[in-house]
Amino acid sequence: MMTGLGSKFARGVFALAFYFLLSDVLNAAKWAPQSVPAELARDAQRAEWLTAEIARHDELYFKKAAPEISDVAYDQLKRELRALQEKHPHLASRETRIGDDRGEGFATYWHGERMLSLNKAYTEAEVRAFHAKIAAQTKSEAIAFTVEPKYDGLAISVTYEQGRLVRAVTRGNGLEGDEVTENLLTILSLPRELRRRDDEGKALPLPELVEVRGEVYLSFAEFARINDEREAVGEAPFAHPRNLAAGTLKQQSSAEVAKRKLEVVFYGVGVMQPVSVIPATQRELHALIQAWGLPGLAYRVAKTSDELWSAVQTIGAERGRLPFPTDGVVVKLDATAQQRKLGESDSAPNWALAYKFSTERAETRLKAITLQVGRSGVLTPVAELETVELGGSKITRASLHNRDEIARKDIRIGDYVFVEKAGEIIPAVVGVNFARRTTDSAKFVFPEKCPACQAEVIAISGEAAVHCPNAECPAQVQQRIEHFVSKDCVEISGFGPALIGKLVARGWLKNVADIYQLEREQLLTLGGNVEKSTDRLLAAIERSKGASLWRVIHGLSIPQVGAVTSRELAAKFGRLEVVANASEEALRARGVDRSVAASVADFFAKKENQTVVRRIMSAGVATELPQSTVVANSAFTGKIFVFTGTLLTLSRTDAADKVRAAGAIVRDNVSKQTDYLVVGVNGGSKLKTAQELSVKIIDEAEFLQLLGK
Ligand code: IVH
Repeated sequence: MMTGLGSKFARGVFALAFYFLLSDVLNAAKWAPQSVPAELARDAQRAEWLTAEIARHDELYFKKAAPEISDVAYDQLKRELRALQEKHPHLASRETRIGDDRGEGFATYWHGERMLSLNKAYTEAEVRAFHAKIAAQTKSEAIAFTVEPKYDGLAISVTYEQGRLVRAVTRGNGLEGDEVTENLLTILSLPRELRRRDDEGKALPLPELVEVRGEVYLSFAEFARINDEREAVGEAPFAHPRNLAAGTLKQQSSAEVAKRKLEVVFYGVGVMQPVSVIPATQRELHALIQAWGLPGLAYRVAKTSDELWSAVQTIGAERGRLPFPTDGVVVKLDATAQQRKLGESDSAPNWALAYKFSTERAETRLKAITLQVGRSGVLTPVAELETVELGGSKITRASLHNRDEIARKDIRIGDYVFVEKAGEIIPAVVGVNFARRTTDSAKFVFPEKCPACQAEVIAISGEAAVHCPNAECPAQVQQRIEHFVSKDCVEISGFGPALIGKLVARGWLKNVADIYQLEREQLLTLGGNVEKSTDRLLAAIERSKGASLWRVIHGLSIPQVGAVTSRELAAKFGRLEVVANASEEALRARGVDRSVAASVADFFAKKENQTVVRRIMSAGVATELPQSTVVANSAFTGKIFVFTGTLLTLSRTDAADKVRAAGAIVRDNVSKQTDYLVVGVNGGSKLKTAQELSVKIIDEAEFLQLLGK
């Protein structure tokens, strides 16, 4: 009571002092020369700040692929700036930004036709106003629109000359972008040649030159797979599929790019010569893109304003079921001639509009921060929230990513926090509502002990993740067993987390080999009427012994070894025993990535892991590939291959996989050690280096012949 009164009194004194101070300032201002009206000065200052802030976010988004704010917040900044520029035209800058994604280490190419951005809308009224404006400008009753999902990835322009792929270039600054052909060619659905005939055998228009425009993206499934793998090895997960797609496409090594399954979709064209082959409508263009064999998109058609709004809403409603990320709907005037008449502004065509979905965001109280223990011991902080609705579902937990993120955002227990669906799937805490923070809150101190086994946690410098170092930690054991029995590994149905928990608690399950030692009597002592389910479980355990080798390898939870690497190891080595006994050098000699090789060798250097391997083998788990699938080709063993340019009959990834499977090593760059340089179309500087170093150079046909042997 006393303190309440006291503080009220103090506030009063401060208010009075502030009033006197303010009136002094105001009086002084009255006499000061007023060359600039205060409002204009304020607006100019704000516009300057907004311009700098937008440029900063452009840099983060386009160049670093690591945005700090949501698209909605970014668009708000742009809108505010545009409003100020409309109010005071002299504030409008000469150039209109559409961002710039160009990075280091890539050759740049000029686009034949500029790559533009799109004007954005957020409301029904804006969509209807767009319809009305187009109707008025075309003075036509017969207008139609295509309504397409707006893929959330990064824009790409792929040039085909006489139907052959010659290069792929990112949007860059709209005029010139980074050449990423090799990286794009890791996408298997991207044809190296356009089809010349449709399914009925009719000849398709084949331009001498065409830039097909589209979007490179990652499916939600692939995004989740990559993040699972990262979390399993103790790396912080990526926040959004778009950032991951952008980061992946801008990798310097196409072998690295190939590890992530990028996808591409096409929805337009830039330059197309001769002009006589340009389709008359956007609909025909979509059909042509697909007839050429390029991946296209599903769209709707709308004529009236009502139809248009309803199509936008329909796509919005389907959004949650789409397997790829979208951030809106793109509306395009259908007729090419009408498009041409309407023209374009500095940054966007006048005949198209992007209706952007708003990111769903909720505010709720953070009740507690708990730690989840991963199978490799990574401790992931989780926000325990007061239940809140977000995007149609009730949320009680959200990701806090890692210790550094909590510190960076200064997230404290008791705070009101903002929750968003990151990449539209996993909710994440994106920030704190500082206005609602209470004075008694304290900085969050990351626990020093593992919540499951009380071992002292360790933080490796330079790494965001904090680990529990105890390999026998029951929480880690539980996670590893859950992983081994999951359908991504040997799949033992009916072996749920609750049952695993009981068995781990009793000490009957310490590692995956223990699964094969479980006895019927032992399981029956767990109580309840469980005879039937116990027999089913034992049958499922028995069945799992026939799982493919790569599934067994995947199930071992070897750091850095996910499903893709497990397949690679199984195909190259044929037997689990061979993998387990291979030295780091032997692994690398067969083309296993450097850090993976180190991790695998490390894992099997531990006695307990060797014991697990021996025990699952003697339990009768299949640990060999069927003989016929083991590849041996002595012409390739140990030989070093480098590829350059575009191969026409198979993708670079396929080619690399084939030679690796045959025992050769694939490198990115030519050196004196290189045995063969395989040259495709448009081979670049590697060819010159190979000539200088007298490396054997073979073309695609010779390469195929060699493979055939
Ligand atoms: S048409 C001249 N259609 O959105 C018109 N763009 O914000 C150029 N995008 O740069 C774009 N899906 O990267 C178009 N169905 C679609 C799209 C789409 C995604 C991207 C594209 C563009 C950005 C504009």
